[in-house]
Amino acid sequence: MNEWWKKSVVYQIYPRSFKDSNGDGFGDLQGIIEKLDYLKELGIDVIWISPVFDSPQDDNGYDIRDYRKIYYKYGTNQDMDDLIACAHEKGIKVVLDLVVNHTSDEHEWFMESFRSKDNPYSDYYFWKDGKSDGSEPNNWGSNFCGSAWEYAEQRGQYYLHFYTRKQPDLNWENPKVRQEVYDIMEYWFAKGVDGWRMDVIASISKYTDFPDYPEEPGKKYYTGNMHSNGPRLHEYLQEMNREVLSKHDCIAVGEAPGSTAEMARLFSDPKRKELNMIFTFEHMNIDRVPGSVNRKWALRPFDLTELKKVMSEWQKQLYGCGWNALYFENHDQPRIISRWGNDTTYREECAKAFATVLHGMQGTPYIYQGEEIGMTNVHYQLEEYDDVEVHNAYRELVQTQKSICKEDFLKAVWNKSRDNARVPMQWDDSENAGFTTGTPWFKVSDRYKEINVKKALANKNSVFYYYQKLIQLRHTQEILTEGDYTLLLPDDKELFVYERKWQQKKWLIVANMSEQENRMDQLRPFIDGAKKMIISNYHRDTLPHILKPYEAFIVEMEA
Ligand code: NOJ
Repeated sequence: MNEWWKKSVVYQIYPRSFKDSNGDGFGDLQGIIEKLDYLKELGIDVIWISPVFDSPQDDNGYDIRDYRKIYYKYGTNQDMDDLIACAHEKGIKVVLDLVVNHTSDEHEWFMESFRSKDNPYSDYYFWKDGKSDGSEPNNWGSNFCGSAWEYAEQRGQYYLHFYTRKQPDLNWENPKVRQEVYDIMEYWFAKGVDGWRMDVIASISKYTDFPDYPEEPGKKYYTGNMHSNGPRLHEYLQEMNREVLSKHDCIAVGEAPGSTAEMARLFSDPKRKELNMIFTFEHMNIDRVPGSVNRKWALRPFDLTELKKVMSEWQKQLYGCGWNALYFENHDQPRIISRWGNDTTYREECAKAFATVLHGMQGTPYIYQGEEIGMTNVHYQLEEYDDVEVHNAYRELVQTQKSICKEDFLKAVWNKSRDNARVPMQWDDSENAGFTTGTPWFKVSDRYKEINVKKALANKNSVFYYYQKLIQLRHTQEILTEGDYTLLLPDDKELFVYERKWQQKKWLIVANMSEQENRMDQLRPFIDGAKKMIISNYHRDTLPHILKPYEAFIVEMEA
């Protein structure tokens, strides 16, 4: 099978916030169909749609009640058939989200499992007795705060949940569970889907002796390396590949928190027959204070040298023996230009600079809805946030533990909250940004009149058209898919510079990731022999003498 996904660019849709077609304030599948022409114009090859299955929506659909049924607010199963057909007609492939580390507690398997110890679904989940004093089986924490164990009166036992208590973890040790998952995958393959993004796939294999994490002062529950990459992970993925993936011409990308570049080879080396690529978290975690009780809400200033180090390590480690999934944004991450760049004076330059750096690398690039027009973070009041992660963290860290004050927590939420990415897509400058004719499920950003698709399409210098050009380059230039990678100036705190080489070609990718002009002195040794400007966010045909704020370009060099 050809590796079409190597030349593809994927566009992620967060369906509840993308486009509402029926005025109920909630995005839906018909809304996605309406916008396929827009995506075609952008030039992407694949859409990945976050979960659209029946769900009580405790974690916005990452808690599935029925894997074979579309959630009514998104439409019907017929709408999904229509969406797949329309997308295919336009040459766009469709990837769905496989959330099988856990289900909803309202899934029929769990409802049965919950009932008693001796029913057919009893060991579809992890049930354990408490410690002798009745407390939780171990000190594992939920990724959304509190213990990872919840007591169920009926069974007199605790069940495991790495996320909310409404997201019980499936027991992959049980071969019946694995078969259920494969059946679900086949069900959707038969409907024409082209692959899967696999939610927290590195967590499906657990350390089934459930050891405690070593204790640290000020902490009761812990999350860490025992939450992922369990001993049978690769065995399970190889089985899934053998049983399902290998039978389809598809793409499989796993979300793999806790994985290093070295581990990424295990997932993505084609010889091992597991997945095509994984999403790393290493580059996204560089602004965290490691080990802090305040978790992701403890902020560390952005350090470009750190970002370059991590991303380059992944480029190097996977070259020739694996594949990268390239991303800066998704529905769990804030907007990159607000997080690590400039979202005011240099908003457009900065958005293009981040895009240049990412799309110049080897791997499959993922664009998150709105990234292609330079959407920004929002600054809401705490009560206005929707995400269960924000509210749980507020209760635990601010109210109970008092390890962070409300003001600092709110600042961290503005910077890091997942809701920054979940505000409705900004289509135009009409009411509710053209997302809905009704009342949107979540407040629209107050910058929608300034930043929207309609405006971007009307301006040939917009971020949108810059992405369009980058995508065309990904399709036509082998050097981007095949070329090797060398980071230059690793210690420079402002410039992100690297070289790609393939056969007789050499490209230099340059980005000034700061608001300061840069005299390019450090760059001189590398820019001798510039042949042709490939793309530039300051519309240059030749090399500049001074780099402007957030100036970025790709230039072809004498090889
Ligand atoms: C990762 C998903 O991307 C995130 O949105 C979700 O909350 C957790 N997994 C749990 O499914």
